[in-house]
Amino acid sequence: MVAADVLQPVAMAATLVAPARLLELAKELPEPYTEEGPGPEVLLMALLAGGATGVVFMLGDTDVQMSLASAAGAAVRRLDPELTHNIAVQACARGLMPVDDRPDPLSLSTEVFGLRFSNPVGLAAGFDKHAEAMQGLMGLGFGFVEIGSVTPQPQPGNPTPRVFRIPEARAIINRYGFNSLGADAVASNLEAFEQAAANSAGVKRGLLGVNLGKNKTSEDAAADYCEGLTKLGRFADYLVVNVSSPNTPGLRSLQGRNELKALVRKVQATRDSMAWGPRGAPPLLVKVAPDLSEDDKQDIAEVALGCKIDGLIVSNTTVSRPAEVSSNPVSTEAGGLSGAPLFPLATAALSDMYRLTQGRIPIVGAGGVSSGEDAYKKIRAGASLVQLYTAFAYGGPELVPAVKRDLAACLARDGFKSVREAVGADHPQIAKTLAAEANVAA
Ligand SMILES: Cc1cc2nc3c(=O)[nH]c(=O)nc-3n(C[C@H](O)[C@H](O)[C@H](O)COP(=O)(O)O)c2cc1C
Repeated sequence: MVAADVLQPVAMAATLVAPARLLELAKELPEPYTEEGPGPEVLLMALLAGGATGVVFMLGDTDVQMSLASAAGAAVRRLDPELTHNIAVQACARGLMPVDDRPDPLSLSTEVFGLRFSNPVGLAAGFDKHAEAMQGLMGLGFGFVEIGSVTPQPQPGNPTPRVFRIPEARAIINRYGFNSLGADAVASNLEAFEQAAANSAGVKRGLLGVNLGKNKTSEDAAADYCEGLTKLGRFADYLVVNVSSPNTPGLRSLQGRNELKALVRKVQATRDSMAWGPRGAPPLLVKVAPDLSEDDKQDIAEVALGCKIDGLIVSNTTVSRPAEVSSNPVSTEAGGLSGAPLFPLATAALSDMYRLTQGRIPIVGAGGVSSGEDAYKKIRAGASLVQLYTAFAYGGPELVPAVKRDLAACLARDGFKSVREAVGADHPQIAKTLAAEANVAA
């Protein structure tokens, strides 16, 4: 075993040479939506970015590998944010990431929407938009990975630049605008992944969420979500109707009571009319914004309960600009803000939705999670599962085991034997009612 304090400087030094070369190659990077897909340039970049990590993979244990991959990520992060994102996706797609096959602590195992998660920490939508890197991402130890948003037809998204970092606040503003290869291409990627998982014991098959969006120019949103469901539903452990991206004009208005009810009913009807395998139809979740009024939240809660939505994801990015970011000139860029400054707003929205649905709809808490303590706070506020993205973009692979380890420690510290016991712990009245109902049912 080679010590981390020897390997890390080696990896740092090796990755320092990569950015210059990457900048040269950046101009040749194919647009993510071209039919050619990632070319040899991307492969080369991924190889360079992951090279240092690869060299020492065989020498270090999982923790060392994780910190090396994170160090490589830190070097690559000097580049343009979208290029960095593409490199990270390709590094995951090309097997240049560590594989964490250590078992999760038993206290983290949890069952939600009838699915068993080995841990409740997932990767949020937007990182792997086209389902290119699931194998690598699942290998990092996420309890689940959500791909997308996927639109039915390919579309380029907004013009670049469309991703901006605010490093001092550990935040990102993005206005990608659903750049998507489209549902057919994503279905091919998912098919290939399924086959690899079926044929190889080395492919870690975690739970997979498929997040659906609508095309910018489509006038029939429901038809778009139904098309996504029809083409991609069979690959999904759960499906997400994303009505909360701030970067597609009119999308957020689908969160209104009547619009949401009509949309959910249509998508549910399509799902229920389809033939499903032995696992049955996948659960259907709705992903909402953090920028909702009390009335909006009440409407969504009523629709969620009335339509028996399987789950909510709270939340997407915010169009607000909290004080922590407002002094950075980038904060005037249009788009959705994610990362640490989103945490209070998204967690308050999560807590409100848990209260308004009386803990009867499982909630996935997203927005600003960057530690086990953050994940724990989301769970106490009412989340059955949590997701993160921006903290992973800043912290790299080593964040994943750290969040899991610290979450398990938070649970143990406060006397919870499982995640489930801690869900909604900040709402004792609701917990009491649910416990009483469970006793009656038993
Ligand atoms: C660059 C970027 C792209 C995103 N793209 C999507 C997307 O396509 N669909 C979606 O539902 N959410 C998308 N999100 C939102 C995330 O899934 C997540 O809800 C949000 O970033 C809050 O979590 P975080 O603070 O941990 O990043 C995106 C976020 C970022 C930073």
